[in-house]
Amino acid sequence: MAEKPQLIAAIGAVASNGMLGLNGWLPWDIPEELAYFERTVAGAALLIGRLTYESMDVVPVDSFIVTRDTSQAMRPGCTAVASVEEGLVRALATGKPVFVIGGASVYAAAWPYCQRFYLTRIELPCAGDTLFPASIPLAEWPVVDEHAATYIERLSAQPVVCRFLQYAQPHPRPLPELV
Ligand SMILES: NC(=O)c1ccc[n+]([C@@H]2O[C@H](COP(=O)([O-])OP(=O)(O)OC[C@H]3O[C@@H](n4cnc5c(N)ncnc54)[C@H](OP(=O)(O)O)[C@@H]3O)[C@@H](O)[C@H]2O)c1
Repeated sequence: MAEKPQLIAAIGAVASNGMLGLNGWLPWDIPEELAYFERTVAGAALLIGRLTYESMDVVPVDSFIVTRDTSQAMRPGCTAVASVEEGLVRALATGKPVFVIGGASVYAAAWPYCQRFYLTRIELPCAGDTLFPASIPLAEWPVVDEHAATYIERLSAQPVVCRFLQYAQPHPRPLPELV
């Protein structure tokens, strides 16, 4: 029987006005959504942009941090990589499923290689300074899984609907051979 190909997926969340970041963190405070993220990526190898990496309290082992300055020291279990392609190749070499966890610049460069995009659509416009990249053609990808839940968004103290979508990219780009 043919072996199942190793997963490369992206995961993120976006407000209804397209915002995904504010002041180096998330524009909303929804612990249940964060818990969904943590459950989904548990045990995976991660590809992370340098700014997002710096915003995280805890970074799991087998995390690959994209930066132009690969000489900088990283936390234990974390490796600096010079491109998303290098990071994805090295993350796959761990044998684990691979999740691209953002931020925006890393989603924009890594999406062509992703089989899946786990995207939480937060049905609330939020103030922000970083937009979800408009270049990712999610509207052309079929939704293969979807569920929704209502949680309290703590900054506004309002109930908010979160739609947990899984998009499947029909023809992900193969990773290049790296020398
Ligand atoms: N809503 C969500 O799901 C979600 C998920 C993750 C992050 N975020 C939010 O997104 C915001 C950060 O996003 P961001 O786009 O500003 O930053 P980012 O993607 O986290 O990090 C940007 C940095 O990554 C490095 N980088 C990116 N692309 C590269 C490439 N092709 N080659 C080499 N290095 C590359 C550069 O690091 P150097 O400057 O070191 O060269 C760049 O400055 C934060 O507010 C964060 O909280 C939201």
